[in-house]
Amino acid sequence: MERVDFTRTTVPLRARRDPLVILQKPLETERFSLVCLDEDFATDTYLRWLSDDDTTAFLETRFAPVGDLLQLRHYVTSLLASTDSYLLAIVTNDTREHIGNIKLGPINSHHSTASIGLFIGSKDWWGKGVATETIAAVTAWAFDTVKLAKVCAGAYASNVASIRAFETCGFSREGLLRSQVSLNSGARDDVVMLGKVNPHA
Ligand SMILES: CC(C)(COP(=O)(O)OP(=O)(O)OC[C@H]1O[C@@H](n2cnc3c(N)ncnc32)[C@H](O)[C@@H]1OP(=O)(O)O)[C@@H](O)C(=O)NCCC(=O)NCCS
Repeated sequence: MERVDFTRTTVPLRARRDPLVILQKPLETERFSLVCLDEDFATDTYLRWLSDDDTTAFLETRFAPVGDLLQLRHYVTSLLASTDSYLLAIVTNDTREHIGNIKLGPINSHHSTASIGLFIGSKDWWGKGVATETIAAVTAWAFDTVKLAKVCAGAYASNVASIRAFETCGFSREGLLRSQVSLNSGARDDVVMLGKVNPHA
């Protein structure tokens, strides 16, 4: 794999080693910058997102609640130290507001595959194409720079917006895990498995 620096200017060069390639500068989309998420992003706003029932309804993080800023910093630090995942903050280009996160990982370097997961914490931004725009950018980067052969995602079947965003970005439904997860209501839900193969791999 190609190796380049994994840091934005304010993030010290550290922690990112094989098998990760290194993110030299933010990934840019039309409206957003995707930057390496470090402790600076561990704010009260981010903490509130993690305790919001709507935001976490389809996320596994709801089973491991982060109670305070110190815990959030530890969580972010542990992710920064990860050698198989990129956690990126989604920041608006015009107001420099942190509105959510998108993750590529864990990367399986044997098979050149990885998952993509995301959440838009700021509900003001829901339904405005953030997921579609950022999934497209991360997928292109995963293929062109990280040189992955395939990216995957899993979404609760009820999470129509998430599934739709991945499909718009060219992901196909590859499988259905029946009654795989438990919803907050107590009902069970299927999980839709999605994938996109790098056409140039
Ligand atoms: C699910 C989530 C990622 C969607 O992000 P988003 O930026 O609002 O999605 P987009 O605006 O790109 O919309 C994607 C598609 O879903 C549709 N959509 C948006 N909200 C919808 C809703 N509530 N119900 C049905 N469809 C919806 C959009 O119209 C769009 O479809 P289109 O391209 O055919 O018009 C976001 O709401 C979120 O982060 N939720 C909480 C965490 C989460 O569920 N993460 C995903 C885990 S897999």
